[in-house]
Amino acid sequence: MELKELGNTGVMIPEIGLGTWRYRGGVEPLQKGIELGATLIDTAEGYGTEEIVGKAVKGMRDRVFIATKVSGRRLGYDDVLRAAEGSLSELGTDYIDLYQVHWPNSSYPMKETMRAMEALVERGIARFIGVSNFGNDELREASAALRHVPIVSNQVLYNLNERGIEKDLLPYCLANGITVLAYTPLDDGNLASKPRFMSSKRIRVLEEISRETGKTTAQVALNWCTSRENVIAIPKSDSVERTVENCGASGWRLPDSDIARLDSAF
Ligand SMILES: NC(=O)c1ccc[n+]([C@@H]2O[C@H](COP(=O)([O-])OP(=O)(O)OC[C@H]3O[C@@H](n4cnc5c(N)ncnc54)[C@H](OP(=O)(O)O)[C@@H]3O)[C@@H](O)[C@H]2O)c1
Repeated sequence: MELKELGNTGVMIPEIGLGTWRYRGGVEPLQKGIELGATLIDTAEGYGTEEIVGKAVKGMRDRVFIATKVSGRRLGYDDVLRAAEGSLSELGTDYIDLYQVHWPNSSYPMKETMRAMEALVERGIARFIGVSNFGNDELREASAALRHVPIVSNQVLYNLNERGIEKDLLPYCLANGITVLAYTPLDDGNLASKPRFMSSKRIRVLEEISRETGKTTAQVALNWCTSRENVIAIPKSDSVERTVENCGASGWRLPDSDIARLDSAF
């Protein structure tokens, strides 16, 4: 499993993590992923999966990097502190590696939310803070509101079919030492075994590259994501077999010519 630096923290995390939105796989797929080096697990207070993540990492907490999120619905100072305490209890741990604001919410002053995020780091409850679904302006505002700790990550939609971040957000994150956690990197399975809503040209190119490289289409799609310097992909799978397949998207690199073919077909 290839590693990448989280922001400018010096901490290395795997380029493939394990998503858990709508996760119903029990502990085995997560434990298999960890065994294969996918030691980053993404969850959220809103997913209802923190408890199973806690069970999966029991006895090996130190080896795992847990990312969870405070819901965008409650971002007042006390709300954020309470939400983090709730996550600690659900996860059965006494610290969160990466605590993220799930969605920006203009009903709450950014300063207030970020002060709370900062307080969590100062109290040792969170090691690092990140955000999710933030655009450039929101990232700027959040960074300006922080006094002592940086924003190290932004979790956003990114896959071959959804490349909207490439114009402004991805370059901004790269320039500012913010790691992008690409969510829905398989386009909800569409880029994996059964493409449903894709043009025949896209399917043909993906399948050709899959045949030529001897990798599955899911592995090609994930490797394309992580070929971007500061991008980490967090696919979700309920199955041990597909988790193994997704972890096999790391440890090799698509040739530049294939990345260019994908870039032009999608
Ligand atoms: N921050 C946010 O707002 C936000 C939003 C969405 C998602 N996320 C995060 O990103 C994670 C991943 O996104 P996602 O769950 O939306 O979508 P995804 O990972 O792109 O796709 C998940 C779907 O693909 C299937 N799948 C996974 N690996 C496969 C493979 N190798 N072959 C065939 N099918 C495969 C899964 O089915 P099986 O489970 O049956 O394998 C599931 O139906 C989430 O779990 C969550 O942690 C964050």
